[in-house]
Amino acid sequence: MPLTSRRRDFLKAGTAFTACSLLSASAKAISPNGKLRTAHIGVGGKGAANLKSVASHDHVEVAALCDVDTQRLATASRGYTDAETFRDYRELLDRMADRIDAVVVSTPDHTHAPATMMAMNLGKPVYCEKPLTHDIYEARRLRLVSEKKSIVTQMGIQRHSAATSRRVVAMLRSGVIGKITRVFTWSFKNWGYDGAKLQGRHEAPETLDWNLWLGSAKLRPYHPDVYHPRNWRKLIDFGTGTLGDMGVHIFDTPYGALELTAPKWAKTTCRTPTGIGHPEQNVVEYEFSGTKHTTATLHWTWLDGAHAPPRAEDLQLPTGAVIPKQGSLCIGEAGSLLLPHVAREQLFPADRFRNYQPPTVAGDDHYHQWVNACLGMGETSADFSYGGPLTEALLLGVVANRFPGRKLAWDPKKLQITNLPEANKLIRRTYRKDFQVENL
Ligand SMILES: NC(=O)c1ccc[n+]([C@@H]2O[C@H](COP(=O)([O-])OP(=O)(O)OC[C@H]3O[C@@H](n4cnc5c(N)ncnc54)[C@H](O)[C@@H]3O)[C@@H](O)[C@H]2O)c1
Repeated sequence: MPLTSRRRDFLKAGTAFTACSLLSASAKAISPNGKLRTAHIGVGGKGAANLKSVASHDHVEVAALCDVDTQRLATASRGYTDAETFRDYRELLDRMADRIDAVVVSTPDHTHAPATMMAMNLGKPVYCEKPLTHDIYEARRLRLVSEKKSIVTQMGIQRHSAATSRRVVAMLRSGVIGKITRVFTWSFKNWGYDGAKLQGRHEAPETLDWNLWLGSAKLRPYHPDVYHPRNWRKLIDFGTGTLGDMGVHIFDTPYGALELTAPKWAKTTCRTPTGIGHPEQNVVEYEFSGTKHTTATLHWTWLDGAHAPPRAEDLQLPTGAVIPKQGSLCIGEAGSLLLPHVAREQLFPADRFRNYQPPTVAGDDHYHQWVNACLGMGETSADFSYGGPLTEALLLGVVANRFPGRKLAWDPKKLQITNLPEANKLIRRTYRKDFQVENL
């Protein structure tokens, strides 16, 4: 049994130990000074922020840093001079397997699954950025393997642990607005690319190992500006567009609150596919089977780019209601709940809820929650058993944007689109040989 689940069982048995006694009891996998030794894969961009957040826990020792860009690696390592540095995560995991306890993955989306699975194959707990994976198949495999091995995991949807999200979950489940009939979700952001095919041959910067950056993806020439850093999320081979990127944060609270599972179908309205980028604007519709918090079926709409925010009349909000640029609206049989992205929720109609007292709910630090769980204290709130199905649901909409106007009927057990066989090619991609990983 992996050490982490042994520790969890230990706690469940009701033993009242302090963090320190747990750490010292956990002898083998924790460093001699009683700290969780972390390895960080991808340390620029969000990876730099994740490094700081994880390292701010008193019981963390940053043991290894990895980035394919030496400039970013050098910047990150300035704050952690004792950490060993690597350009290739495979080498890190191979060489440091017995000197690290847990792994943080903050690379572009197409590298999430290979790096995470390799770490889990070694039995290491993983914090992996959102969306969990690039492909639906990968999300399913990460979930199944994490469950089989009882590995402590967390997906990087940090607002999931915040007080606002937890309060809204409690409100929706309490039935304050009755059973939910429709959900709207949206973001004005444009992580799409409708431009032309990329031309010309360009040298990658000296600091960047382009082959390692491509990783499991097919080889192709480097091009400035469109891939590294951050713009890869616009391109179909590396990112998941605005839906995968922002949608995962915005779907999270209503999806989790309503205890939804797999969608029955998804349909995207967008421009004709170009084979290069995700569409710059989408409208994605889903239907979910009902749960105890919803009517018999639930219709869910996502809008992004210039399609967001939705029209006020579609949201059935009173005149004058301010519609945020990003957020969600749950329409229930007895009212509506508007949740702007990163702001407080509002109930409508305002008169009906004037005297309503929302539940008092405490927030939690998403990163420290994962570290604590790795150390046997408590559990994570967005493990792969949650993050996997949420990511699968989102990614069905991403697949649908390659077949605009077609309703893709989904069989989650078989992991198949049942009415459009050619779409199934997009459920799982083939990795380059050197980046194939056991269990994927
Ligand atoms: N949770 C959030 O709020 C949030 C916010 C931003 C980004 N993200 C997620 O974080 C991830 C990274 O996004 P970003 O905006 O920081 O991208 P980025 O391109 O700015 O940074 C990615 C970093 O990973 C490095 N990298 C790329 N391939 C690598 C590999 N194979 N091995 C090691 N390092 C590698 C890059 O050099 C770079 O330093 C994405 O999954 C994104 O969705 C999450």
